[in-house]
Amino acid sequence: MILTAKNLTKSFSSSEGKFYVFKNLSIKIDKSDLITIMGPSGSGKSTLLNILGTLDTFDDGSIVFDQKNISDLNKDQISKIRNKHIGFVFQYHHLIPEFNAIENVLIPQQIFGKKINEPYAKELLDYLGLSHRIKHYPAQLSGGEKSRVSIARSLINKPALIFADEPTGNLDIENAKNLVRLFKKINNDFEQSFVIATHDPQIASAGKIKYFLNEGILSISDHV
Ligand SMILES: Nc1ncnc2c1ncn2[C@@H]1O[C@H](COP(=O)(O)OP(=O)(O)O)[C@@H](O)[C@H]1O
Ligand SMILES: [Mg+2]
Repeated sequence: MILTAKNLTKSFSSSEGKFYVFKNLSIKIDKSDLITIMGPSGSGKSTLLNILGTLDTFDDGSIVFDQKNISDLNKDQISKIRNKHIGFVFQYHHLIPEFNAIENVLIPQQIFGKKINEPYAKELLDYLGLSHRIKHYPAQLSGGEKSRVSIARSLINKPALIFADEPTGNLDIENAKNLVRLFKKINNDFEQSFVIATHDPQIASAGKIKYFLNEGILSISDHV
C-alpha cells in the first residue's frame, strides 16, 4: 500500500460559517492502481487530491504514506516525500520562458540532481503529440501545447504516485485520448499509481478502480 487515508474530514470557513466538504472519507492507493474520481463541480475532488498529495491540510483523520504517518512529520520532511514520490498534473502549469519545451520537461531532473534522461523526455513529448515542438519556446506554443509540455514535465521523474486534477480539461478530444493512453501506458510499464479527478465519464471509464464523489461521500462506482 502506498497511501492509506482514514476518516478524513475537511471543512472550510466562509462568511456564512464553517462547511464540510467531506467527513470520515477513507481511500487506499496501492502500487499500480489507476483510480478515477468522478463527481460534479464543487463536490470536493480538487480538495481531496490536494489533501492526499500533501498540498492541503485536513481537520481530522490520518494519511499514511509509504508507512509514515504524515501528521508525525514536519513541513520539510513532507516536502521531501512529495518531491521525491508524488507528481501532480494540473491544467495550468507555468513553464520557464527562457527554456525550450524539452528543457522545461527536464527541469525536475536538474533540480533533484537526477541523471538527465533526454530520450524519456522525447518519448513523453512524442506521446503527447509534441515531437515537432521539442525546441520551441513557451511563447511559440499554443495554450494546449504548453499544457502538454507541463504534463510531460510532471511525469519525467517517474513519481510513484501521480495526482491528475481534470487533466484533460484543457485539451481537444484527440489529445485527451492520447493523455489517457499515456497514463495507462506509464501505469502499466512502470507500475506508477494514478489518481485522476474528472467530471468526464469517458475519462473516468479508464480507471481500474472508479469512485464517485458526491455530497461528501466517496463511493465505488459501477455506472461509469
Ligand atoms: N480555499 C477554499 N476556501 C473555501 N472554500 C473552498 C476552498 N477550496 C474549495 N472550496 C469549496 O469546497 C468545495 C469543493 O471544492 P473543490 O474541491 O474545488 O471541488 P471540485 O474540484 O470537485 O470542483 C466547493 O464548495 C468550493 O467552493
Ligand atoms: Mg476541481
